[in-house]
Amino acid sequence: SDISVAVIVGSLRRDSINRKVAQAVTRLNAPGLAFTFVEIGDLPLYNADFEAAPPPAVASFRQQIATAQAFLFVSPEYNRSVPGVLKNAIDIASKPNGHNGWGNKPGGLFGATPGAIGTAVMQSHLRTVMGGVGVTVFSGPEIYLTVKDDFFTENGDFNEGTHRFLQGWMDGYAAFVKKMVG
Ligand code: FNR
Repeated sequence: SDISVAVIVGSLRRDSINRKVAQAVTRLNAPGLAFTFVEIGDLPLYNADFEAAPPPAVASFRQQIATAQAFLFVSPEYNRSVPGVLKNAIDIASKPNGHNGWGNKPGGLFGATPGAIGTAVMQSHLRTVMGGVGVTVFSGPEIYLTVKDDFFTENGDFNEGTHRFLQGWMDGYAAFVKKMVG
């Protein structure tokens, strides 16, 4: 059966360009992968004190991460790093001790911005965090998306050049995930 891939968007904004990118990415051709968006906006800030009785939003998020076989992160860069909301979600599903939901699974990550450097610094930092929680990150090609006027078509898909590039990325990512999950 299909490999379940949890898609996590690092922006909570309704009109988030990263959410639009993630939605268009999951419409690319990826036979054998089943994408599910996992939401992080209702999570409380991590507090080890709640481990005695984790709030429902925490328990539910942990369950969704624990059952996913692979991950796809699409996130903005905030002040040259990973948005706090995304880091908080990663921290939450890495606990309690002995129940790290991320560990030993494959992942992919990139992000979009109106700015010129295409979330490069966020991606570098997020790769470091992935190393901490035991996600093996697909190594390439690296994706630096600068979103300008003609980036999306009227249907919300990618323009032709971006589509070709991201489909190539998806082909490599899907092969990597299948090899890792086995
Ligand atoms: C930003 N933005 C931004 N962009 C960037 O390329 N590098 C950066 O370091 C930052 N820093 C930053 C900090 C904060 C607090 C905000 C709110 C924004 C701009 C950012 O790329 C832009 O707002 C995107 O539209 C955010 O992504 P979503 O929400 O559209 O997915």
